[in-house]
Amino acid sequence: SRPEPCSIVIFGATGDLTHRKLVPALYNLAVDGELPTGVRIIGFARRDKSDEEFRSGLEELNKKVSRSGHDDEVWSHLAENIFYHKSEFNDADGYKSLAERLDQIDEERGGKGNRLFYIASAPEFFDDILIQLKNAGLNEAKDGCWARVIVEKPFGTDLATAKHLNEVVNSTFHESATYRIDHYLGKETAQNLMVLRFANAIFEPLWNSRYISHMQITCAENLGMEGGRGGYYEKSGALRDMVQNHLLQLLSLVAMEPPTDLSADGVRDEKVKVIRSLRQWDTPEKVAENVVRAQYTAGHVDGKEVLGYRQEDRVSPESDTEAYVAVRLLIDTWRWSGVPFYIRMGKQLPKKSTEISVHFKDAPNVLFGALTGGVPGGNVLVIRIQPDEGISLRMVSKIPGTSLRLEPVKMDFHYSTSFGKGSPEAYERLLLDAIAGDATLFARRDEVEEAWRFIDHIEHAWHQSDNPPPMAEYVAGSWGPKEADDLIKKDGHDWRRL
Ligand code: BG6
Repeated sequence: SRPEPCSIVIFGATGDLTHRKLVPALYNLAVDGELPTGVRIIGFARRDKSDEEFRSGLEELNKKVSRSGHDDEVWSHLAENIFYHKSEFNDADGYKSLAERLDQIDEERGGKGNRLFYIASAPEFFDDILIQLKNAGLNEAKDGCWARVIVEKPFGTDLATAKHLNEVVNSTFHESATYRIDHYLGKETAQNLMVLRFANAIFEPLWNSRYISHMQITCAENLGMEGGRGGYYEKSGALRDMVQNHLLQLLSLVAMEPPTDLSADGVRDEKVKVIRSLRQWDTPEKVAENVVRAQYTAGHVDGKEVLGYRQEDRVSPESDTEAYVAVRLLIDTWRWSGVPFYIRMGKQLPKKSTEISVHFKDAPNVLFGALTGGVPGGNVLVIRIQPDEGISLRMVSKIPGTSLRLEPVKMDFHYSTSFGKGSPEAYERLLLDAIAGDATLFARRDEVEEAWRFIDHIEHAWHQSDNPPPMAEYVAGSWGPKEADDLIKKDGHDWRRL
């Protein structure tokens, strides 16, 4: 449907996400002329602040982070439609006055009554906010209007808490009005995965266990626990922070069957089947065999000296939280029988880079092998999620000359050169989709729960079993622990060098 005017209420509006991502995303949409007219933003938080103070704080950050600069005219137009509402998250009166304020804004500025509630507070308030919205009747749309909710991560910390949150969400908003955000799904290259696979005829016939030897999903970050992040991270760890959500989402896009259509449920029906088909690592032995966890020790990243994980601010010196994880996965479906998928994610690695690589089986070695002393590696299709978004295909070629020598070469597609412009930020697309009522790029209840089911076994082996698999170490600025190299070598493969 066409995006309609609406009020977006952001809970936890004084936080980082609102300042760094959400409002800059709305600003960028406004710059590109894509923000529907009549969008109002109401920040809801506990701190004392006037509308004016809230606006100027947002403006200051927008100047720093916006991808399209800062245009005073566009900003002031947006700022006129930004308001601040002070309330505790569990104060019924605060929601009653919110309802009145929303009606008043609609009346003064000609709104219809569409409401988008964006829950971006600390997770301990999610329940309260949902329950209070319901008590104030804000979960129900008035005639001809809609009321939707976006729920930020983390969506629970395990299966039980995710189920509980789902119960609360579903008792407040209909599933079709619920948007569980996973910003990786809004990344341009993630969206392009389906186009690459299903709009090109050449890939799909090869996209199975007959031709593919294995796949790798790597998410490398060159940051540690800056900005007091250690406090949150200690309770989360790499597996929960990024694998349960972002990386399993990428996996499901790259491994799913073609959907019957592009509707939200058409796509999500297929994605969830992938997660449901994951072989479960449900004993400490299986976890030890298929999963590596690690912490970084002091080292150098980008030429700068950095602390080890256990020395970081707000991290326990005896911490058993992983800052790196590598997982070997098997998908028990016809298509993927016997094809391993490897996911790795780590903090304080040499650079920021996320990519998926599809490693094809080697050509028969009968022709060139004997003459050249071995064909150098096989075909690899690399999908670069970020930065330098693009796709490349590695092939083997003859080196020009009179003798027969072979070398791998690359066919390369860069978004920036082919399209001459950068990609919008993930939150731009996702906010616009939620305003337009398209849930395709948001996680459905069953996807989130199936992902937790898989993750829970591993967390359980690490933290609650009698013989927990060990914690490995790597030097900050290196490509991760030796144990992770061994994990993939056991199958005769190597991590791709980024
Ligand atoms: C967040 C995680 O969800 O994603 C962070 O909590 C991580 O730990 C971030 O750094 C990565 O997002 P992006 O878009 O920078 O890859």
